[in-house]
Amino acid sequence: MEIKDLVRKNILNLKPYTSARDIYEGENGILLDANENSWGSTFTSIESLSLNRYPDPHQKDLRQLIESVLSIPKENLFFGVGSDEIIDLLIRVFCNPGKDKVLIPEPTYGMYKVACDINDVETTEVLLTDKFQIDLNTIRENYTSNTKIIFLCSPNNPTGNLLNKQDVIQLCNEFKSIIIVDEAYIDFANDGSLIDEIKNYPNLVVLRTFSKAWGLAGIRLGYCTANVEIINLLFKVKAPYNINSLTRYALEISLKNLKLKEKYVRGIIKERERLKNQLESLPGIETVYNSDANFLLVKFASPSGKNEEARAVLAKLAERNIIVRDRSSQPKLQNCLRISIGNEEENDLLWDTIKKII
Ligand SMILES: Cc1ncc(COP(=O)(O)O)c(C=O)c1O
Repeated sequence: MEIKDLVRKNILNLKPYTSARDIYEGENGILLDANENSWGSTFTSIESLSLNRYPDPHQKDLRQLIESVLSIPKENLFFGVGSDEIIDLLIRVFCNPGKDKVLIPEPTYGMYKVACDINDVETTEVLLTDKFQIDLNTIRENYTSNTKIIFLCSPNNPTGNLLNKQDVIQLCNEFKSIIIVDEAYIDFANDGSLIDEIKNYPNLVVLRTFSKAWGLAGIRLGYCTANVEIINLLFKVKAPYNINSLTRYALEISLKNLKLKEKYVRGIIKERERLKNQLESLPGIETVYNSDANFLLVKFASPSGKNEEARAVLAKLAERNIIVRDRSSQPKLQNCLRISIGNEEENDLLWDTIKKII
């Protein structure tokens, strides 16, 4: 298949924004090309950062950093202002508003649909199986020649499970569409990443974020890996200097703390299993789903059949300043709450409170 056959014509023909730094990459020259403040910056605490200059539009050092720390080839990397920005850019690259379609197996992360709606791109929502796995037949039934993207999330938010790799690969083989696998929570799973398959499938895109395991939601940084052709298209449409210098700096510091990130992940997984065991012992709880992520999906029992228990618990927790996420209105998730794994103290407080409420 030819990736370029899937791209919007205006994107193929687009003359991307150019700057003098596309030609002259030197950081130490006399830079009088971008109307910056050559005198300096008013931000003076980390002077070596040169915040008076625009950041590197080619993400060169970010790509180099990730290649060396996470062993992903730099030419297969693109960074966004959170993975949310990359979701939006992928839709803008591949989908003609009012014409093309995006297929979303649900229940899943809500931003895929929101980003499509913003771009005036129609979505087709299909259901995951009862085990929250890809239902290949439903996808085949709902796929059309205008389906440009299929969004998958593994481990899936809010169900917490990894998707079967073989099903994802089947989709890559079978459909002439971009298959996006969002691995925002992959650090909390033992295995199951599709990143190694990028070299085998030109239509596969894997999304990652620093917002979860790395604890960097505040710096807004995500990345994707895909074949070079897709990466170049993303560079073509992104805002020239999308990743700011403070974010880049924070990442550089944080990547040196790989061991700390691994400690956090181990702690969160341990707490996740502790909380799961505790919640499972409560008679008012029907199911605590297995999770490969940093949250638990909890289904409440409904002796009355009215399925109002999850919302009642949510409200009572909120009265005590404990905020969890109601997922009851998503398909297949009646009477379900999604609870993020906190630190030990927060989890203890949640457990004590929920025990009393139920
Ligand atoms: C599955 C999934 N993807 C992406 C994101 C957003 O990530 P970022 O903070 O990198 O935009 C979230 C945030 O909750 C998420 O759950």
